Amino acid sequence: MKKSVLAALAVLALSGTAFADTIKVGVVGPFSGPFAIQGKNFKAGIDAWIALNGAKVGDDDIEIVYRDLPAADPAQSKALAQELVVKEGVQYLAGFYFTPDAMAVTPLLEQANVPLVVMNAATSAIVTKSPLVVRTSFTTWQTSAPMARVARERGVKKVITVVSDYGPGVDSENAFKTTFTAEGGEIVDSVRMPLSTNDFSPIMQRVKDSGADAVFAFLPSGPTTLGFVKAYNENGLAKAGVQFLAPGDLTQESDLPALGEAASGLLTTFHYAVSHDSAENKTFVEAARKAIGNPAELSFPSVGAYDGMHVIYKMIEATGGEQDAQKAVDAVKGLAWESPRGPVSIDAESRHITQNIYLREVAKAEDGTFYNKEIATFEKQGDPGLAALK
Ligand code: PHB
Repeated sequence: MKKSVLAALAVLALSGTAFADTIKVGVVGPFSGPFAIQGKNFKAGIDAWIALNGAKVGDDDIEIVYRDLPAADPAQSKALAQELVVKEGVQYLAGFYFTPDAMAVTPLLEQANVPLVVMNAATSAIVTKSPLVVRTSFTTWQTSAPMARVARERGVKKVITVVSDYGPGVDSENAFKTTFTAEGGEIVDSVRMPLSTNDFSPIMQRVKDSGADAVFAFLPSGPTTLGFVKAYNENGLAKAGVQFLAPGDLTQESDLPALGEAASGLLTTFHYAVSHDSAENKTFVEAARKAIGNPAELSFPSVGAYDGMHVIYKMIEATGGEQDAQKAVDAVKGLAWESPRGPVSIDAESRHITQNIYLREVAKAEDGTFYNKEIATFEKQGDPGLAALK
């Protein structure tokens, strides 16, 4: 071998060990606009992770590069991801609150040699769109199916479903319907409303007219869910004897102060409650509340982001900071740890998170504030939505 080649190889070998690199992680989320609290929660989860674990993996410095995507906008999502990869040189893409935004990025991953760690978007199919997707949030199949079992156990016979008409809403409807009818229940009507719906009174009238004992609903957390739960109360549905059933998106902690007494007793099923009683969650909540500023704003996207960082740090460790997306993803298949939400693992086949789903009831704390109180646990739930896709 020529001397010059040997010298070049020696420099390469050295650079792998002796010089620290900066590894950039591009995070896309709603940091402004009506869903800004959800983006703030992404950032609080990431800040909490860094506060507790440092901004270095081995010799490498970790830098987070944020991009704002205020509403579901797949074309803009793709443009932001391209810009992060090409101009910023990010080695990891993460975040993504809305399903259409995550879906739009999956075709870029293999060519860019970049893993995508989904910190919220909850439609089952996302992980099937690229082998380089890992998800640390939940799916609406995963959170909605247990509610159908709870409803049957509590003697609910007839249900009307009401969902936002896009990926996670359709999944939530299918999850509830499939499970509820398999357990002997009856679906009397199903409503799919545009994502932009903000006048829910006509829908509440349809719920009343349906003759159902309960309404099962899914909307993406934000002003949408706050408006829907308010409408349920203001239209006297509870008084009319129509129970409220939903995944926990509808009673996220940051909505509870505005709902007040009206939220009391609402039943939901979800992967995370800020009140979860564990040492890991205590440490997390303290750090995340410090990061977010206003403690009442802490909500579930923070834990998806915190655990997403856990996964990204493991990926960086396993690749020694080299850009090898497949090796990074392979390294977290089967990874198990104690999350603030409870025990979790990354399913090796689907790359989606396996976790407990909790039944919760909105309760009043001694200080007069409202919280989601965990009252039962469905342990180690995978994503039933993936089986349903086959
Ligand atoms: C989604 O678009 O996948 C989504 C957004 C907000 C949620 C749940 C799912 O609360």
